[in-house]
Amino acid sequence: MDMSGNALRCIECHREFPEKEILYACPSCGNLLEVVLPLSEFDPRELRDAFDSRPLGVWRYKELLPDFKGKSPISMDEGGTPLHRCERLGRELGLRNLYIKFDGMNPTGSFKDRGMTVGITKARDLKVKAVVCASTGNTSASLAAYAGIAGIRCIVMIPSGAIALGKLSQAMMHGATVFEVDGNFDDALELVMNSSRELGLYVLNSVNPFRPEGQKTAAYEVVDQLGESPDSLVIPVGNGGNNAAYWKGFSEFKELGLAKKTPRIYGIQAEGAAPVAEAFRKGANRIRPVKNPETVATAIRIGNPANWLKTIKAIRGSNGDCIAVSDKEIISSQKRIATREGLFVEPAAAASFAGLIRLIESDDIDKDEKIVCVATGHGLKDPDGAIRASKKPVKIEPSIKSLRANLRA
Ligand code: F0G
Repeated sequence: MDMSGNALRCIECHREFPEKEILYACPSCGNLLEVVLPLSEFDPRELRDAFDSRPLGVWRYKELLPDFKGKSPISMDEGGTPLHRCERLGRELGLRNLYIKFDGMNPTGSFKDRGMTVGITKARDLKVKAVVCASTGNTSASLAAYAGIAGIRCIVMIPSGAIALGKLSQAMMHGATVFEVDGNFDDALELVMNSSRELGLYVLNSVNPFRPEGQKTAAYEVVDQLGESPDSLVIPVGNGGNNAAYWKGFSEFKELGLAKKTPRIYGIQAEGAAPVAEAFRKGANRIRPVKNPETVATAIRIGNPANWLKTIKAIRGSNGDCIAVSDKEIISSQKRIATREGLFVEPAAAASFAGLIRLIESDDIDKDEKIVCVATGHGLKDPDGAIRASKKPVKIEPSIKSLRANLRA
């Protein structure tokens, strides 16, 4: 199987560029790029046999990932995350086939590792001196870990005081140079893009076309775990990269004949940071950036998503929708998933379930459908938020009397 036919293609004007060029946007029209695979050159039966001979995970699908010419990828066994069947939550909502794809079970606790294994391997091949990202937390944690094992200098830019503690501690512990930018995520990303132009740093935000290649494997895994594509996939939207990566994954599997259909993609944003949901409500083809995004789900506190056009194309292409949920719904969903299913997911990850409840109530999703909610990050990432949202521990004397009295209270 010869992968020499891979190219980068502009998502809007469709101009193509060789995969080896370092590009984050189309030089002609400024829109984002994506990797296109020569899908018709593959033999689906050969692919199926090759995939089935390997454990579930990102590199199980290596024929459909960038080719590193026989050199092994920089990997920590990403992916292969559980597709958890939600019997209790399903019963409560009257859903027979509800699943959570728990991508918080990746090595650094979020789905970012899927993209980072591919992105950092690319960085190694390009022999870059330093990698950089802007982040609401998870990207920086993941990049710091992968750059560390690759021996590449890592610079991360985070919005000052606005990322969860667990994520900050990861970036610091993995040895990144951490800059707190006096501004929000959108300001930090602008600085990152400028630093790439001015200082030659290699950008590993999702505008890098190789990151979504790794992230799309989550869709392949869902098909392999479920035996088919679900009817609906519900997923949080921040910068807009992950939902588009899922859509690419499902679409490629369908085109290859490895899945019979593609699911409808439902993107979920937090009300205070919902430019994509607004565009869908108005039937608009563009977003209106939100100047001061605000939500407890700090991972998706983004007002000007870099992947907005990819997201709109993915969600429209799938016949889905994008809606917004309140912080209250997000926190109550986080608790519900934790208490009913035993899964501790971070607030942004719980947004998908909060969105599902709305979509069931509005009859957009039918109760008989096979539904997958994507839980993108682990709850331990944001311990402060979890403690704030929960009942405080009760102080007692070390005696049965005190315990009895407090148990009754
Ligand atoms: N869920 C979590 C836990 C995230 O960390 C992110 C994005 C998203 C959902 C949204 O994914 O941006 O592809 O639409 N986090 C980025 C970061 C922005 O910097 O860690 P998206």
